[in-house]
Amino acid sequence: MKLNIAVLPGDGIGPEVTAQAVKVLKAIAINFDHVFTFSNALVGASAIEKFNDPLPEATIETCKSADAILFGAIGKTSYDLDPYAKIRPEQGLLRLRKTLDLHTNIRPVIAYDDLLIKSSLKKTQIKGTNILIYRELTSGIYFGDKYLSEDNNTASDVCKYTREEIERVAHSAFKAAQSRKQKLTLVDKANVLESSRLWRRVVQELAAQYPNVEVNYTYIDNAAMELIINPKQFDVILTENMFGDILSEEASVIVGSIGLLASASIGDNHVMFEPIHGAYTKATNKGIANPIASILSAAMLLEHFGLDDEASLVRDAVEKSLTLHITTPDLNNKYDNITTTKVGDFIEDFINNPDETNLNFTNIHLGQSTII
Ligand code: IPM
Ligand code: MN
Repeated sequence: MKLNIAVLPGDGIGPEVTAQAVKVLKAIAINFDHVFTFSNALVGASAIEKFNDPLPEATIETCKSADAILFGAIGKTSYDLDPYAKIRPEQGLLRLRKTLDLHTNIRPVIAYDDLLIKSSLKKTQIKGTNILIYRELTSGIYFGDKYLSEDNNTASDVCKYTREEIERVAHSAFKAAQSRKQKLTLVDKANVLESSRLWRRVVQELAAQYPNVEVNYTYIDNAAMELIINPKQFDVILTENMFGDILSEEASVIVGSIGLLASASIGDNHVMFEPIHGAYTKATNKGIANPIASILSAAMLLEHFGLDDEASLVRDAVEKSLTLHITTPDLNNKYDNITTTKVGDFIEDFINNPDETNLNFTNIHLGQSTII
């Protein structure tokens, strides 16, 4: 298969983790006879520095002409500390999602057995967790009318949804539930918000088209608690933009590190794959950033194009790295010298040679085979 992939590394740790995902995709291309081409473009603070615009026109064009986009991370501490800044890195990501109409964001939350110990939650509570969060990505409070009074003392953000915006993400979530455990939970705040009541009405109506899917309705405050107390009760979670943002980051506690959570942002004409973590500015170029969320985002990219064997090999490689403790310090208390690049190298090497009959599997995959 030929795929033209736009690569938007972004800010902070974005470039270093994205480089590992690109490395992995290149290994897949070689081993499975695909032709993947990569076109880099600037976004976020790095684009502001060069073009005074977090999403330059050239970047939009690169994305529009690509088959898929691989996104790194966005943000910079100096902007976080300045609520007066008019031009902000995050606008690049938000405008990109909106411009390309990437309305459906899918965030898998899987508790790996080897990492149960890394979670601050009890092992018995989280073992076996496998949730797919469907987050609406291009509407709601993120994109509603914003207002700031002239004296800077009054502000508002409107949370607006249309039936159509709810229907398209809800259909995808129902279909996903059908192919999983046939359970869908709508998370909203329908006891307070009119927009949430619209979500409930629309989802209740659509449920009739998916009779084999059990639908539950939960308020966001309760869902935030249930996700921690008993995450295994969830199969597919469907929710609006901001609740999905918060719940998915909370869910990273189950998995053991936010550095593991990948996502796919799907529109009718464009697709983008991005880790859910941010730019983690203070870790930039220290070699401690976990590249797995980016690598698993690349696996989601492969799956999107029906390259299931390729995606499974990437997932196997990731799982092997977790089992053998070839992980960055956020997950590792066995080795203290495994860098971002080393994790990428291990996964690349495993793809090239997944054969476990080697005598010293770990060393060979860490490029240390000549020592033995
Ligand atoms: C995410 C991020 C973004 C969001 C930020 C960087 C704008 O937190 O993808 O979860 O809030 O959607
Ligand atoms: Mn977020």
